[in-house]
Amino acid sequence: MWIGTPLILLLALTPQAIISVKQRDLETVFQWKQLVYGFPTEQDRQEALNNGNLVPNNGVPVGLALHHHAQKGTRVFTTIPRFQTGIPYTLATVSDTNEPNGPVLNPYPNYEWQNAHGRDCNKITSIFCLALTECDQMVVIDAGVIGTTQHCPPQLLIFDLNTDTLVHRYRFETNVYTPTASLLITPVVVVHDPPPKGRCQRLHVYIADVSYHGLVIYDSEQNTAWRAENKFMYPDPDYGTHTIAGENFTLMDGIFGLATDQRQLYFHPLASNSEYAVPLNVLNNRTNWANNSGAMEDEFRSLGQRSSECAAETMDSQNNLYCVTFNPIKLTIWHPTRPFNVKQELQVPADPRLIEFVSDMKLFKNGSGKEELWMISIRFQKMTTGTLSDNEVNFRIVRRPLDDMQHVPHQDLRQRLILT
Ligand SMILES: *[C@@H]1O[C@H](CO)[C@@H](O)[C@H](O)[C@H]1NC(C)=O
Ligand SMILES: *[C@@H]1O[C@H](CO)[C@@H](O)[C@H](O)[C@H]1NC(C)=O
Ligand SMILES: *[C@@H]1O[C@H](CO)[C@@H](O)[C@H](O)[C@H]1NC(C)=O
Ligand SMILES: *[C@@H]1O[C@H](CO)[C@@H](O)[C@H](O)[C@H]1NC(C)=O
Repeated sequence: MWIGTPLILLLALTPQAIISVKQRDLETVFQWKQLVYGFPTEQDRQEALNNGNLVPNNGVPVGLALHHHAQKGTRVFTTIPRFQTGIPYTLATVSDTNEPNGPVLNPYPNYEWQNAHGRDCNKITSIFCLALTECDQMVVIDAGVIGTTQHCPPQLLIFDLNTDTLVHRYRFETNVYTPTASLLITPVVVVHDPPPKGRCQRLHVYIADVSYHGLVIYDSEQNTAWRAENKFMYPDPDYGTHTIAGENFTLMDGIFGLATDQRQLYFHPLASNSEYAVPLNVLNNRTNWANNSGAMEDEFRSLGQRSSECAAETMDSQNNLYCVTFNPIKLTIWHPTRPFNVKQELQVPADPRLIEFVSDMKLFKNGSGKEELWMISIRFQKMTTGTLSDNEVNFRIVRRPLDDMQHVPHQDLRQRLILT
């Protein structure tokens, strides 16, 4: 299980803690040996096969989002970035239909939106990650890139999840990205007019440029975007070679994980042990960045270092920050009121075999209003080293209730965690 090293000490739970909440673990909701692509018709599948747009081994699910709708039920979305050709679509829902390799995916909002493969910039080219708002909006960032070719300018698309139709499109201009060098991935959305009073018309979207090391800020009221850069967004070569489950690979990705407590943006490069923060009001003031995207240097803070690199991060409603470290694999939890360092690193009980490389994680309120942490785990270390096997489970969507971690005074929390 999660007790990987003899140094780990699981402190005894207090009797009250045991009575009030049972300790939780991860639950696998979906798993794949390789992706299973559903098509609207058998003819569409044949055409995709014949045109090289469906290569069975290509495709890795990277992004994750969940949405509950009174009529449509709970839908799980994933993204399949077009790292290479042979990927029939890049934004999908996960169905309940199972095949031997895993559950069948279906293109979202439909196949027509996604089958141009870079030849039509009014369609979707390639999506890494997505975010949802409280107003049933899906915000996706289409990087416009297939492999290393920039086919289209990156664009921000907002779909209405009630009608599954596009409600807004914004095309980024070359003042915020550099064609073929930039790669716009993770969006994090802050809503300034949430329901019940508001209609989520005033949004800021923060988007990591993982390859060219910057942050793009989109403002929906002005319908414009600007760019902020800082040395903390760069990869650190000392943390550019990663070890996951005993396998090594080099990946010099810059700013990757983003999270917010509505006051600060927390972020870290993938090739880094550090966590950083910058106030949202500094990012949101366009004037600050008008002359110089590298401005406001003093506003960026280094919070500290974790035990090893991690990929996606997210924050719950109590501002606990979650991230899964690579080596050893640990689901860590940190609160901004605490020091950020290895000695104080708190670990949430979670089976490390199920969370090998967590490319995305999201909070989801379940039917009873309880927050759950959902994660998508891919065996990235095996993809880069060419050791992926079709006979093993390679991709997983897992969830973990958080009721054993939340609403607990810090003193008690330490008793529910694994201290290393
Ligand atoms: C992986 O990297 C570590 C640390 O750099 C090294 O000790 C280990 O031998 C490497 N493992 C493999 C399989 O190359
Ligand atoms: C935005 O920043 C500029 C300086 O860059 C400052 O003069 C202005 O007061 C700021 N606006 C707000 C609303 O804080
Ligand atoms: C930006 O440049 C203009 C013109 O040089 C100058 O007037 C303005 O003060 C500068 N703004 C900031 C925030 O430095
Ligand atoms: C929501 O999660 C809690 C545990 O956190 C669980 O007790 C409850 O049954 C869940 N409700 C639903 C509808 O899944």
